[in-house]
Amino acid sequence: MLTRPRRLRTSPIIRELIAETRLSANMFIYPYFVTKGKNKTEAIEAMPGISRFSIDQLIPDVEKGLKAGVNKILLFGVGEEKSEDAHSAHDAHSVVADAVRELKKKFGKDLFIVTDVCLCAYTTHGHCGLASPPAPLQRRGEEILYIDNDLSLPILARMALAHAQAGADMVAPSDMMDGRVAAIRNLLDESGFVNTPIMSYSTKFASAYYGPFREAADSAPGKGDRKSYQMDFRNGREALREAQLDEDEGADIVMVKPALAYLDVIKTVRESTLLPVACYNVSAEYSMVKAAAKAGYIDEQRITMENMYAFARAGADIIISYHTREILEKGWM
Ligand code: PBG
Ligand code: ZN
Repeated sequence: MLTRPRRLRTSPIIRELIAETRLSANMFIYPYFVTKGKNKTEAIEAMPGISRFSIDQLIPDVEKGLKAGVNKILLFGVGEEKSEDAHSAHDAHSVVADAVRELKKKFGKDLFIVTDVCLCAYTTHGHCGLASPPAPLQRRGEEILYIDNDLSLPILARMALAHAQAGADMVAPSDMMDGRVAAIRNLLDESGFVNTPIMSYSTKFASAYYGPFREAADSAPGKGDRKSYQMDFRNGREALREAQLDEDEGADIVMVKPALAYLDVIKTVRESTLLPVACYNVSAEYSMVKAAAKAGYIDEQRITMENMYAFARAGADIIISYHTREILEKGWM
Protein backbone atom coordinates (compact mmCIF):
# COMPACT_ATOMS: atom_id res chain seq x y z
CA MET A 1 0.00 0.00 0.00
CA LEU A 2 1.21 3.48 -0.84
CA THR A 3 1.80 5.82 2.12
CA ARG A 4 0.76 9.34 1.36
CA PRO A 5 2.04 12.26 3.52
CA ARG A 6 -0.36 14.39 1.46
CA ARG A 7 -3.27 12.95 3.45
CA LEU A 8 -1.93 14.92 6.42
CA ARG A 9 -2.06 18.24 4.62
CA THR A 10 -5.66 18.30 3.60
CA SER A 11 -6.94 20.98 5.97
CA PRO A 12 -5.56 23.76 8.13
CA ILE A 13 -6.79 21.98 11.24
CA ILE A 14 -4.86 18.79 10.60
CA ARG A 15 -1.81 20.82 9.56
CA GLU A 16 -1.94 22.49 12.98
CA LEU A 17 -2.35 19.11 14.65
CA ILE A 18 0.80 17.65 13.15
CA ALA A 19 3.04 20.74 13.18
CA GLU A 20 6.44 19.63 14.44
CA THR A 21 7.62 23.06 15.49
CA ARG A 22 5.69 25.55 17.59
CA LEU A 23 6.64 29.02 18.68
CA SER A 24 5.63 30.60 21.93
CA ALA A 25 5.84 34.19 23.15
CA ASN A 26 7.85 32.81 26.08
CA MET A 27 10.81 32.02 23.84
CA PHE A 28 11.63 35.57 22.88
CA ILE A 29 14.06 38.11 24.30
CA TYR A 30 14.04 41.69 23.00
CA PRO A 31 17.29 43.71 22.91
CA TYR A 32 17.44 47.37 24.00
CA PHE A 33 20.14 50.02 23.71
CA VAL A 34 20.22 52.35 26.69
CA THR A 35 22.20 55.57 26.50
CA LYS A 36 23.49 58.19 28.92
CA GLY A 37 21.62 61.43 29.32
CA LYS A 38 17.98 62.49 29.44
CA ASN A 39 15.14 62.83 27.01
CA LYS A 40 16.82 60.92 24.23
CA THR A 41 15.20 58.66 21.67
CA GLU A 42 17.66 58.21 18.82
CA ALA A 43 16.49 56.13 15.89
CA ILE A 44 19.13 53.76 14.51
CA GLU A 45 19.13 54.31 10.79
CA ALA A 46 20.10 50.81 9.69
CA MET A 47 17.60 49.19 12.07
CA PRO A 48 14.15 50.66 11.36
CA GLY A 49 11.97 50.43 14.47
CA ILE A 50 14.92 50.24 16.88
CA SER A 51 16.16 53.23 18.90
CA ARG A 52 18.62 54.12 21.59
CA PHE A 53 16.79 55.38 24.65
CA SER A 54 17.89 57.31 27.70
CA ILE A 55 16.53 55.73 30.89
CA ASP A 56 13.56 58.12 31.22
CA GLN A 57 12.41 57.22 27.68
CA LEU A 58 13.25 53.54 28.03
CA ILE A 59 10.77 53.05 30.84
CA PRO A 60 7.61 54.04 28.92
CA ASP A 61 8.77 52.05 25.90
CA VAL A 62 9.28 48.93 28.01
CA GLU A 63 5.86 49.52 29.54
CA LYS A 64 4.28 49.55 26.09
CA GLY A 65 6.09 46.34 25.14
CA LEU A 66 5.03 44.63 28.35
CA LYS A 67 1.40 45.14 27.38
CA ALA A 68 2.05 43.03 24.28
CA GLY A 69 3.92 40.39 26.27
CA VAL A 70 7.50 41.54 25.74
CA ASN A 71 8.62 40.65 29.27
CA LYS A 72 12.21 39.57 28.72
CA ILE A 73 14.75 42.15 27.58
CA LEU A 74 18.50 42.28 26.95
CA LEU A 75 20.24 45.57 27.79
CA PHE A 76 23.26 47.11 26.05
CA GLY A 77 24.89 50.27 27.42
CA VAL A 78 25.90 53.09 25.07
CA GLY A 79 27.68 56.40 25.45
CA GLU A 80 29.79 55.69 28.53
CA GLU A 81 33.25 57.11 29.00
CA LYS A 82 35.78 54.96 27.12
CA SER A 83 39.13 54.18 28.74
CA GLU A 84 42.08 51.79 28.60
CA ASP A 85 40.88 49.92 31.68
CA ALA A 86 37.14 50.05 30.85
CA HIS A 87 36.33 51.12 34.41
CA SER A 88 32.96 52.61 33.44
CA ALA A 89 31.83 49.07 32.51
CA HIS A 90 31.68 48.01 36.16
CA ASP A 91 30.68 51.30 37.74
CA ALA A 92 27.82 50.83 40.21
CA HIS A 93 26.16 53.72 38.37
CA SER A 94 26.85 52.73 34.80
CA VAL A 95 23.93 53.46 32.51
CA VAL A 96 23.08 49.74 32.44
CA ALA A 97 23.16 49.38 36.24
CA ASP A 98 21.04 52.50 36.67
CA ALA A 99 18.58 51.34 34.02
CA VAL A 100 18.24 47.95 35.71
CA ARG A 101 17.53 49.60 39.08
CA GLU A 102 14.94 51.96 37.61
CA LEU A 103 13.22 49.24 35.59
CA LYS A 104 13.13 46.91 38.58
CA LYS A 105 11.69 49.66 40.76
CA LYS A 106 8.93 50.20 38.25
CA PHE A 107 8.17 46.67 36.98
CA GLY A 108 9.63 44.30 39.59
CA LYS A 109 9.20 40.63 38.75
CA ASP A 110 6.96 41.34 35.74
CA LEU A 111 10.07 42.13 33.72
CA PHE A 112 13.02 39.75 33.29
CA ILE A 113 16.21 41.70 32.63
CA VAL A 114 19.29 40.24 30.99
CA THR A 115 22.42 42.40 30.68
CA ASP A 116 25.15 42.13 28.08
CA VAL A 117 28.60 41.76 29.62
CA CYS A 118 31.38 42.91 27.29
CA LEU A 119 33.96 45.68 27.22
CA CYS A 120 33.80 46.88 23.59
CA ALA A 121 31.54 49.86 24.32
CA TYR A 122 33.82 50.87 27.22
CA THR A 123 37.37 50.51 25.87
CA THR A 124 39.20 53.25 23.96
CA HIS A 125 40.14 50.82 21.19
CA GLY A 126 36.68 49.26 21.00
CA HIS A 127 37.74 45.65 21.51
CA CYS A 128 35.84 43.25 23.74
CA GLY A 129 38.74 42.75 26.16
CA LEU A 130 41.54 44.88 27.59
CA ALA A 131 44.75 45.44 25.64
CA SER A 132 47.96 44.38 27.28
CA PRO A 133 49.46 47.37 29.10
CA PRO A 134 53.19 46.75 28.43
CA ALA A 135 54.52 48.11 25.16
CA PRO A 136 52.35 46.73 22.35
CA LEU A 137 53.96 43.81 20.57
CA GLN A 138 55.89 44.76 17.51
CA ARG A 139 55.25 42.93 14.30
CA ARG A 140 57.29 43.94 11.24
CA GLY A 141 57.69 47.37 12.73
CA GLU A 142 53.94 47.84 12.97
CA GLU A 143 52.24 48.37 16.29
CA ILE A 144 49.65 45.72 16.94
CA LEU A 145 47.06 45.65 19.64
CA TYR A 146 47.21 42.56 21.80
CA ILE A 147 43.94 41.72 23.52
CA ASP A 148 44.90 40.19 26.84
CA ASN A 149 42.51 37.39 27.65
CA ASP A 150 43.41 36.88 31.31
CA LEU A 151 43.72 40.56 32.14
CA SER A 152 40.13 41.02 30.96
CA LEU A 153 38.58 38.31 33.13
CA PRO A 154 38.38 40.15 36.49
CA ILE A 155 36.95 43.25 34.77
CA LEU A 156 34.24 41.23 33.04
CA ALA A 157 33.44 39.53 36.34
CA ARG A 158 33.14 42.90 38.09
CA MET A 159 30.86 44.14 35.32
CA ALA A 160 28.58 41.13 35.75
CA LEU A 161 28.57 41.64 39.52
CA ALA A 162 27.65 45.33 39.19
CA HIS A 163 24.68 44.31 37.02
CA ALA A 164 23.60 41.59 39.46
CA GLN A 165 23.86 44.01 42.38
CA ALA A 166 21.63 46.45 40.49
CA GLY A 167 19.04 43.67 40.15
CA ALA A 168 19.70 41.99 36.79
CA ASP A 169 17.95 38.62 36.53
CA MET A 170 20.59 37.07 34.25
CA VAL A 171 23.94 38.10 32.78
CA ALA A 172 25.07 37.39 29.23
CA PRO A 173 28.82 37.60 28.54
CA SER A 174 29.46 38.29 24.84
CA ASP A 175 33.19 39.06 24.94
CA MET A 176 34.46 35.55 23.97
CA MET A 177 37.46 35.61 26.33
CA ASP A 178 38.36 32.08 27.45
CA GLY A 179 37.53 31.42 31.07
CA ARG A 180 35.11 34.29 31.57
CA VAL A 181 32.16 32.12 32.47
CA ALA A 182 34.14 30.59 35.37
CA ALA A 183 35.44 34.00 36.44
CA ILE A 184 31.92 35.47 36.45
CA ARG A 185 30.41 32.41 38.16
CA ASN A 186 33.01 32.50 40.95
CA LEU A 187 32.61 36.18 41.69
CA LEU A 188 28.80 36.00 41.58
CA ASP A 189 28.79 33.00 43.93
CA GLU A 190 31.27 34.56 46.37
CA SER A 191 29.13 37.67 46.43
CA GLY A 192 25.92 35.82 47.20
CA PHE A 193 24.42 35.80 43.69
CA VAL A 194 24.28 32.01 43.45
CA ASN A 195 20.90 32.17 41.76
CA THR A 196 21.83 34.58 38.98
CA PRO A 197 22.14 32.49 35.81
CA ILE A 198 24.69 33.01 33.06
CA MET A 199 23.59 32.87 29.44
CA SER A 200 26.86 32.63 27.59
CA TYR A 201 27.46 33.76 24.03
CA SER A 202 29.42 30.52 23.66
CA THR A 203 29.57 30.24 19.94
CA LYS A 204 30.02 33.68 18.54
CA PHE A 205 31.41 33.99 15.06
CA ALA A 206 33.49 36.89 13.75
CA SER A 207 30.72 38.15 11.51
CA ALA A 208 29.87 41.01 9.19
CA TYR A 209 26.28 40.59 10.40
CA TYR A 210 27.10 42.74 13.47
CA GLY A 211 27.62 45.88 11.35
CA PRO A 212 24.43 47.80 12.22
CA PHE A 213 24.80 46.86 15.91
CA ARG A 214 28.23 48.46 16.09
CA GLU A 215 26.73 51.69 14.82
CA ALA A 216 23.92 51.39 17.37
CA ALA A 217 26.21 50.59 20.29
CA ASP A 218 29.12 52.73 19.12
CA SER A 219 31.37 49.72 19.68
CA ALA A 220 33.28 49.22 16.43
CA PRO A 221 36.95 48.41 17.02
CA GLY A 222 39.15 51.38 16.08
CA LYS A 223 41.83 49.12 14.67
CA GLY A 224 41.95 45.49 13.65
CA ASP A 225 39.16 42.95 13.81
CA ARG A 226 37.80 40.47 16.33
CA LYS A 227 39.12 37.33 14.71
CA SER A 228 41.57 36.56 17.52
CA TYR A 229 38.72 36.00 19.99
CA GLN A 230 35.58 35.49 17.92
CA MET A 231 35.22 32.31 15.89
CA ASP A 232 36.11 31.54 12.30
CA PHE A 233 32.88 30.88 10.43
CA ARG A 234 34.50 28.03 8.55
CA ASN A 235 34.64 26.00 11.77
CA GLY A 236 31.69 23.97 12.93
CA ARG A 237 33.42 21.48 15.24
CA GLU A 238 35.18 24.28 17.07
CA ALA A 239 31.73 25.65 17.84
CA LEU A 240 31.01 22.52 19.86
CA ARG A 241 34.27 22.85 21.78
CA GLU A 242 33.43 26.44 22.71
CA ALA A 243 29.97 25.44 23.89
CA GLN A 244 31.40 22.52 25.87
CA LEU A 245 33.99 24.73 27.59
CA ASP A 246 31.33 27.21 28.68
CA GLU A 247 29.15 24.41 29.94
CA ASP A 248 32.06 22.99 31.96
CA GLU A 249 32.70 26.45 33.43
CA GLY A 250 29.13 26.70 34.64
CA ALA A 251 27.08 28.35 31.89
CA ASP A 252 23.33 27.83 32.39
CA ILE A 253 22.34 28.58 28.79
CA VAL A 254 24.57 28.48 25.72
CA MET A 255 24.07 30.67 22.67
CA VAL A 256 24.82 30.56 18.98
CA LYS A 257 25.29 33.86 17.16
CA PRO A 258 24.48 34.94 14.46
CA ALA A 259 21.50 32.69 13.79
CA LEU A 260 20.31 32.62 10.17
CA ALA A 261 23.56 31.64 8.49
CA TYR A 262 24.36 29.24 11.36
CA LEU A 263 21.32 26.99 11.60
CA ASP A 264 23.60 23.95 11.24
CA VAL A 265 25.54 25.09 14.30
CA ILE A 266 22.36 25.64 16.33
CA LYS A 267 21.37 22.10 15.45
CA THR A 268 24.68 20.46 16.35
CA VAL A 269 25.00 22.42 19.60
CA ARG A 270 21.43 21.40 20.42
CA GLU A 271 22.34 17.76 19.86
CA SER A 272 25.53 17.91 21.90
CA THR A 273 24.35 19.59 25.10
CA LEU A 274 21.53 19.11 27.56
CA LEU A 275 21.50 22.83 28.39
CA PRO A 276 18.93 25.21 26.93
CA VAL A 277 20.19 26.69 23.65
CA ALA A 278 19.62 30.30 22.62
CA CYS A 279 20.24 31.91 19.25
CA TYR A 280 20.81 35.58 18.50
CA ASN A 281 19.10 36.82 15.35
CA VAL A 282 21.53 39.71 14.97
CA SER A 283 21.36 43.26 13.66
CA ALA A 284 22.14 42.76 9.97
CA GLU A 285 19.79 39.80 9.77
CA TYR A 286 17.09 42.19 10.94
CA SER A 287 18.26 45.05 8.69
CA MET A 288 18.18 42.87 5.58
CA VAL A 289 14.58 41.87 6.19
CA LYS A 290 13.58 45.46 6.90
CA ALA A 291 15.35 46.82 3.82
CA ALA A 292 13.90 44.22 1.47
CA ALA A 293 10.44 44.74 2.93
CA LYS A 294 10.70 48.48 2.49
CA ALA A 295 11.69 47.99 -1.14
CA GLY A 296 8.63 45.80 -1.61
CA TYR A 297 10.69 42.74 -2.51
CA ILE A 298 9.38 40.45 0.21
CA ASP A 299 6.38 39.83 2.43
CA GLU A 300 7.77 40.99 5.76
CA GLN A 301 5.46 39.09 8.08
CA ARG A 302 5.85 35.79 6.25
CA ILE A 303 9.63 36.08 5.89
CA THR A 304 10.04 37.06 9.54
CA MET A 305 7.99 34.15 10.80
CA GLU A 306 9.65 31.68 8.44
CA ASN A 307 12.98 32.75 9.96
CA MET A 308 11.67 32.34 13.52
CA TYR A 309 10.35 28.85 12.77
CA ALA A 310 13.70 27.95 11.24
CA PHE A 311 15.47 28.84 14.51
CA ALA A 312 13.05 26.73 16.51
CA ARG A 313 13.21 23.84 14.03
CA ALA A 314 17.03 23.90 14.23
CA GLY A 315 16.65 23.45 17.97
CA ALA A 316 16.76 26.90 19.58
CA ASP A 317 14.82 27.07 22.85
CA ILE A 318 15.31 30.82 23.12
CA ILE A 319 15.29 33.44 20.35
CA ILE A 320 16.87 36.84 20.86
CA SER A 321 15.50 39.06 18.12
CA TYR A 322 14.85 42.70 17.23
CA HIS A 323 11.65 41.44 15.57
CA THR A 324 10.20 40.36 18.95
CA ARG A 325 8.26 43.53 19.64
CA GLU A 326 6.57 43.62 16.25
CA ILE A 327 5.79 39.89 16.25
CA LEU A 328 4.02 40.14 19.60
CA GLU A 329 2.35 43.50 19.07
CA LYS A 330 0.99 42.57 15.67
CA GLY A 331 0.10 39.04 16.67
CA TRP A 332 2.14 37.45 13.91
CA MET A 333 2.47 34.18 15.79
C1 PBG B 1 29.31 42.99 21.82
C2 PBG B 1 28.17 42.45 21.06
C3 PBG B 1 27.96 42.47 19.67
C4 PBG B 1 26.71 41.96 19.45
C5 PBG B 1 26.18 41.61 20.68
N1 PBG B 1 27.10 41.90 21.65
C6 PBG B 1 28.81 43.01 18.59
C7 PBG B 1 30.15 42.46 18.29
O1 PBG B 1 30.60 41.46 18.84
O2 PBG B 1 30.80 43.09 17.47
C8 PBG B 1 26.04 41.86 18.10
C9 PBG B 1 24.58 41.95 18.12
C10 PBG B 1 23.96 42.31 16.83
O3 PBG B 1 24.61 42.45 15.78
O4 PBG B 1 22.73 42.45 16.85
N2 PBG B 1 30.34 42.11 22.00
ZN1 ZN C 1 32.19 43.16 22.65
